[in-house]
Amino acid sequence: MADTEERAEVDEAEIAAHWKEEEWIHPSESFVAQANMADEAVLERFAQDKFPESFREYADLLDWDEPWHTTLDSSNPPFWNWFVGGKLNASYNCVDRHLEKNRNKAAFIFVPEDEGEVDQVITYQDLYVRVNEFAALLQDFCGLKAGDRVTLHMPMTPELPVVMLACARIGVIHSQVFGGFSGTACGERIVDSESHVLITTDAYWRSGKLLDHKEKADEAVAKAAESGVVVDKVLVWRRYPGKVSAATPMVGGRDFYVDELMKDYKGRRVAPLSMSSDAPLFLMYTSGTTAKPKGCQHSTGGYLAYAAGTAKYYQDIHPEDVYWCMADIGWITGHSYIVYGPLANGATTVMYEGAPNWPDEGRFWNIVEKYKVSIFYTAPTAIRAFIKWGDDWPGQADLSSLRLLGTVGEPINPEAWMWYRKVIGAEKCPIVDTWWQTETGCIMLSPLPGVTTTKPGSCTMPLPGVVPDIVTKDGESLDDNLGGLLVLKQPWPSMLRTLYGDHDRFLETYFSEIPGSYFAGDGARRDEDGCYWIMGRVDDVLNVAGHRLSTMEIESALVSHPQVAEAAVVGFPHELKGEGICCFVTMTVQDQSEELKAELIAHVREQIGAIATPDKIRFAAAVPKTRSGKIMRRLLRDIAAGREEVGDTTTLEDYTVLASLRDDE
Ligand code: PRX
Repeated sequence: MADTEERAEVDEAEIAAHWKEEEWIHPSESFVAQANMADEAVLERFAQDKFPESFREYADLLDWDEPWHTTLDSSNPPFWNWFVGGKLNASYNCVDRHLEKNRNKAAFIFVPEDEGEVDQVITYQDLYVRVNEFAALLQDFCGLKAGDRVTLHMPMTPELPVVMLACARIGVIHSQVFGGFSGTACGERIVDSESHVLITTDAYWRSGKLLDHKEKADEAVAKAAESGVVVDKVLVWRRYPGKVSAATPMVGGRDFYVDELMKDYKGRRVAPLSMSSDAPLFLMYTSGTTAKPKGCQHSTGGYLAYAAGTAKYYQDIHPEDVYWCMADIGWITGHSYIVYGPLANGATTVMYEGAPNWPDEGRFWNIVEKYKVSIFYTAPTAIRAFIKWGDDWPGQADLSSLRLLGTVGEPINPEAWMWYRKVIGAEKCPIVDTWWQTETGCIMLSPLPGVTTTKPGSCTMPLPGVVPDIVTKDGESLDDNLGGLLVLKQPWPSMLRTLYGDHDRFLETYFSEIPGSYFAGDGARRDEDGCYWIMGRVDDVLNVAGHRLSTMEIESALVSHPQVAEAAVVGFPHELKGEGICCFVTMTVQDQSEELKAELIAHVREQIGAIATPDKIRFAAAVPKTRSGKIMRRLLRDIAAGREEVGDTTTLEDYTVLASLRDDE
């Protein structure tokens, strides 16, 4: 693999030494008394069932059109099939089956960022109507059929889950691209997934600004056309008619406003298509170690069963809960814990459109108070921002409805964990620090709420049936407290089934590094109590504010600027975002001005999106490379972090490069 050399650099001693603070925190008695997982009968079943039968518990939460006959087919690893022989429909499981008992229950409470707009309560009945009508439009107007791919580039509005579920209803594979990504980034994902339909929105609010989103669709379609992929229909949900459309005219015969089309589909119903358990449900693109994003393909039966099960048992969802996962649906967290997991459980979930500090830093806590949110799931970056904004903001709201808190996306520092527990959770809410990935689909390592005693900063233990290990780069299991590579040694139902259109890359990326195991790309250690402590990525993937970015994707964005000759991108510790982006660039011009730096930053934003905004641009005479021509990222990381030690420089092709980089500080 391209980055093997880099992984060899994992400093096990550094990992082992990282976490020292350890303290057990026990769940409160009141929480234990009601926890789904603390039910003796459930625990008993999980304890008795051996792998892979332990996963039947989750599949039993779903309604199957045809029951499966084999829990796991291992005949062709790593292409594992779960719940073999079973047939089901994800949209039916998330919507229709709740109508009988919960027709008027809120499925979504949508809170727009602009406080002048009214919140929307979308009941299961409303959702049913909208999903059916849109499914009819996809079928009749777009001519889509099972197995076709559709790219969605939608912001956080209720239309997004409607579109996802409408696709699922007719077996169409949705590929939602995070709304904050640029048109170019969306276009690349359209090409990879070979989508001929793009679904988007005219505009959305972010931090008090109405952003034109349709212009990104035009860029995306143009980008796809460069690679010969023709998008023949662009469906535009109109949220603000007339406000932004003047700037981005509709293209006749290609672009259509959904509200105009929908008139013909009022009252239409579409029977949910019975899909085989292993039929693809969606693609979710994520960054890897090359510039090309990877389309993780998730299956209908295995994914949905595990999303439903993890939401029920490990997010402890009860019928009366108001659940709020503040991720964006454009990421896997939103797919699994805003849409599929909660809806499969018939839950009520809050969906907020905008920024946590708009119009002020109390916005989140006002929403918690207003809707009596009981389960709140966020990212460590957000928690660090809350800490910075001060305790007064949460202090002004009534947060007594909260009973369970969760985190995901990055390692959480024990200080932030303790603040979260004290200030938000009033020392009564258990915290579940959940480790998982786009590829794993759902939570893998996490405390069992109400059962596991927790240690601030550790995601504690594998969930029942999940078999992780910490190994050397040669695949040897390591003893407790020795840092190494995190692997998963057994399959699980929601695992990615392949990378869309690229089985070879799937095998090479995840199963060749440590033969026989799934290689997660993270460094970690397991302590003497069996608790796991995640250290972060050991490959060329950055985790910036809980968002995953490829260093190479940013490098290729930089070199697409006409004056950049070469670029090397590394992460560095960032107080708020966990990891910041530092770019070393070699220019073809002498100019090293602040204006040029600003131009490069704007260029990267334009190419990828605001989430990839570089924190530091450093001009360098040359980028340091090993004799074999590989960028010396470790050295650059040390320089970016301002550390004194710069490691072994003997393979540097030119020592003066290092010197000049340091002079630049
Ligand atoms: O490095 C790990 C980190 O996020 C990576 C996965 O990123 P992504 O696929 O975007 O999915 C994020 C949301 C599931 C992992 O390889 N990560 C995720 N959760 C944790 C974490 N690091 C430490 N602790 C966690 N709880």
